[in-house]
Formats: sequence, C-alpha cells, structure tokens
Amino acid sequence: QELQMNLEQIEKGGYDHFMLKEIYEQPSVIKDTYRGRLHANEGIVQLAGVEDNLEKFLNADRIIIVACGTSWHAGLVAEYIFEEFARIPVEVEYASEFRYRNPIINKTDVVIAISQSGETADTMAAIKLAKEHGAFVFGVCNVVGSSISRETHAGAYTHAGPEIGVASTKAFTTQITVLTMIALRLAKAKGTLSSPDFHRYLQELELIPDKVKEALETNDVAKEIAAVFKDAPNCLYLGRGYNFPVALEGALKLKEISYIHAEGYPAAEMKHGPIALIDEHMPVIVIAPKQGHYDKIVSNIQEIKSRSGKIIAVVTKGDTQVRELADYVIEIPETSDALSPLITTIPLQLLSYHIAVMRGCNVDQPRNLAKSVTVE
Ligand code: AGP
Repeated sequence: QELQMNLEQIEKGGYDHFMLKEIYEQPSVIKDTYRGRLHANEGIVQLAGVEDNLEKFLNADRIIIVACGTSWHAGLVAEYIFEEFARIPVEVEYASEFRYRNPIINKTDVVIAISQSGETADTMAAIKLAKEHGAFVFGVCNVVGSSISRETHAGAYTHAGPEIGVASTKAFTTQITVLTMIALRLAKAKGTLSSPDFHRYLQELELIPDKVKEALETNDVAKEIAAVFKDAPNCLYLGRGYNFPVALEGALKLKEISYIHAEGYPAAEMKHGPIALIDEHMPVIVIAPKQGHYDKIVSNIQEIKSRSGKIIAVVTKGDTQVRELADYVIEIPETSDALSPLITTIPLQLLSYHIAVMRGCNVDQPRNLAKSVTVE
C-alpha cells in the first residue's frame, strides 16, 4: 500500500492530482507539439500529414470537424482560426449527432477528427461514415497507434504525453496548437495571410509556451476566487469570437470535476433570454482580453453588473476599464485575438481545479465519467 502510494506520488510528479500536473505541463507539451514543425525564424510551418495531402486541403470546398467534449471545443476554436487565416469554410459537428443525421458529405470535403484518446466511439463512427462517402479524413490524436489514428487516411499527433486526468487540459491546448499550425500552413499556400501577418503569427506561436507559463502564475488568485465561489449552485461563462469556445470549455471543466451546473454562452446572446438568470448569487466568468471585441464585452459586463451579477473577468495584464466593473479580475499576458484561447483557458482550468478540490471531489476520476468513451 505504502509503495503503491509512493509510486503514484512519483507519477504525479509531486502534484496533488494528475490534472494539476497536466495543467502545469502545458508550456512544455505545447513546445513538444510544435517542435520540428514550426520554424518561425525561417518562416516555415509544416506537418508531414498535411504536406503529403496538401492538394486535398487546398481543393477542399469545406472542412468538417467531428469530435466530442473538449475536443469539440478545440474544433470550434479551429473554425474561427481556419476561416480567418485560410478562408476555408468550416463546420464543427458533434460526432454523436453527425453519425446519425444522414449528413451531406462530399468527396471534396476534408473531415478533421479530433480525439485525445483516439478511441471515442462516436468520433470513430463519424470517421467511418465520412470515409463511406469518399471524404478525405485527417486525424488529430494524442495516442500513437490508437484506433482513430489508424482509421483516418492521415493525421498529426499532439505530443501532450499521456493525459491521465479525466478532465482534458493539455490535450485541449496542444490540439489547438496543431490546428493553428495547419491553418497557418494552408494560409501560406493560399496566400490568404499577408507575409508580415504570417510571420508574426509564427513568431507569436513560438512564444506561446512562455505566455502559458506566465498565465499559470494566476494560480494563487484563481485559488482565492475558488474559495469565494466553491458553493455557488450555478455559474455562467461568457466569451466572444475566439473566446466563445473557451467559455464553453471553461463551463465543461467546472461541471465535470466540481459537479456545479455551469453554462458557456456567447456574451452577446445573454440579452436573448439567459440574462434573466442573473442575480447576486450567480457568478459570471467573462473572458475579456484586450484584443477581442473588447468594447462590446465591456458593455455586456455592464449589463450583468446592473443586474447585480458577480463578475469574475479574465483580462489582459494592465487592464483598467474592466477592473473598474468586475468583482474579481485574473490578469493574463497579451496575445493576438486568434491565439488567445491558448492563454485564456489556463485560469479557467485552475479555477475549476481549485473549486473541485475545495469541494472534496475526486478531481482525477470524477463520478460517472470515463477518460475515453469507447461505447455509445
Ligand atoms: C473533457 O474534459 C472530457 N474528458 C471529455 O469531454 C472528452 O473531451 C471527450 O470524451 C472526447 O474525448 P477524446 O478527445 O478522447 O475523443
């Protein structure tokens, strides 16, 4: 028993839970994921699976992304990035819906399947359906030799290393890293990004691990805020643009490890009903970085404040305007809008982790959940 405890302690690298270890591994595993693929100084980004199938991507009428859970959220971020950088239409589908709704799939479609485990049954079924319709299927997986990585025509691995915590963290940020590199490669081939912008994004992506490391320094303030809201019955997460999927992901993290009901929403959508939920008992997490529809999200915050909602804002370091309005602020380093999800998600991971620990939940193996849903 003693030995078993020590072995597990060693595996956790001294952290209390695998999830916390994996949150802190993100700077290094993002670097591992772009190593050998991103050479910012030379203006080169390339992934073998994409290079070997570049024409299929360039001739695609659209990209369909199929995934589940956190991987589906990474797909939503990718939709914004692919459409912004490469001007290719992207549709993101829940694999479980896609597989049953008799979808339209054309031979000119490229289907990207995102799966950390590479064993998710719904995603596998969606892949098989796409192949039956003659589409080219590209996988983004974290487990080498997994069923999905073998079923897809080609793919690119994330190099996050084994993700033990059921709640996905480093898989999410390394998936976005791979998808961003693919979008940049296609933008270069299509000329849909100016050369200066292309090079600037490569440089910025190379610096993301340092910014993630800086974002991890919000751990203490996240812990303080967790203590205030750990008994909240509900929680709302709001974001716009690239950070709308991050709001969904933040809510999923909180739900699955602390069992608090949480909902992610596009910030502007609040006035179409959900704002009726706001009162002094409802914590509202707002992702409000300087680079993304800032003025609009400030007005959304004002709407919530006027209904006495409790506001926790994720802001760019040095922000003053939101600081005036919010009850709590978490400051993160500045990034371009398109790369901000890699940073804004960090404090939300930490916040949900601390709330779950304070509630005495089983953080690494939450109730009712499996790390990979290999059955329907
Ligand atoms: C996310 O924290 C969950 N563990 C879950 O939603 C997960 O993302 C989903 O089951 C998809 O798993 P996959 O990436 O291994 O396919």
